[in-house]
Amino acid sequence: MKAPPTHAPHTRVFHDPEETAGQLAGFLLALIGKRLAESENFFMAVSGGSTPLLLFHRLAHAGGRIPWNRIHLFWVDERCVPPGHPESNYGQAQQVWLQKITMPRENIHRMRGEDDPVIEAQRYGREIENILPKKKGLPAFDVVLLGLGNDGHTASLFPGDNDSLISEKSCLAIRHPQTGQNRITLTPRIINRSKIVCFLVTGKEKAAPVQFILENSPSSEKFPGSYIRPEEGELYWFLDAGAAGRIPA
Ligand code: 6PG
Repeated sequence: MKAPPTHAPHTRVFHDPEETAGQLAGFLLALIGKRLAESENFFMAVSGGSTPLLLFHRLAHAGGRIPWNRIHLFWVDERCVPPGHPESNYGQAQQVWLQKITMPRENIHRMRGEDDPVIEAQRYGREIENILPKKKGLPAFDVVLLGLGNDGHTASLFPGDNDSLISEKSCLAIRHPQTGQNRITLTPRIINRSKIVCFLVTGKEKAAPVQFILENSPSSEKFPGSYIRPEEGELYWFLDAGAAGRIPA
């Protein structure tokens, strides 16, 4: 059973994917600046897929405005392929963003898609435990960026995989229900401990899961995105008009 949300989500709707990504980039830059005024480092996790590419492009051009050496970058999920594979979430981020900025290699904490999934999920869980600051004794990100699939999946948490949704672990090896592809994914348990979680969702094909999740209706249980409810942190939805097409203005 999902815990009730502690705070109502903040929903921000923009005209198109470019504007939505630009607004989220601005939000992130402001958040980083605020956090680094009071902390030595900033800890963030990003998702894969196509939606974040516009955001990564904006972050690549924020360049000198961000002290990348004080930012630690993690992934929300990864396909179990080598980093140079076109489906690699890390590979895409590296191509569009990371190779254009000066983030120290030791700050880039990729999931090793080329390794055994179960062993890597355990290793990545330990890396999170060892590197992230603790909140009430448990590791917590400053921000986690999520996408949403047409079926309401997020990270690599897919409809019907209830064990992953309620797992006490931070990181799991799973298999994509349609393709059978091995994946590594963070779980709601670690995501919901974040100070801030941002969904970036664009396209009218996602309007239905967005509507059901934001309505918090009983039927939203079938959408893994509905399990993202920060325990004490804030949840933001950055949507374009297409993805927001079925929610009240
Ligand atoms: C992945 C992502 C996944 C993604 C959604 C949306 O590895 O595919 O982490 O959760 O966010 O599938 O993907 P698009 O942005 O491509 O629509």
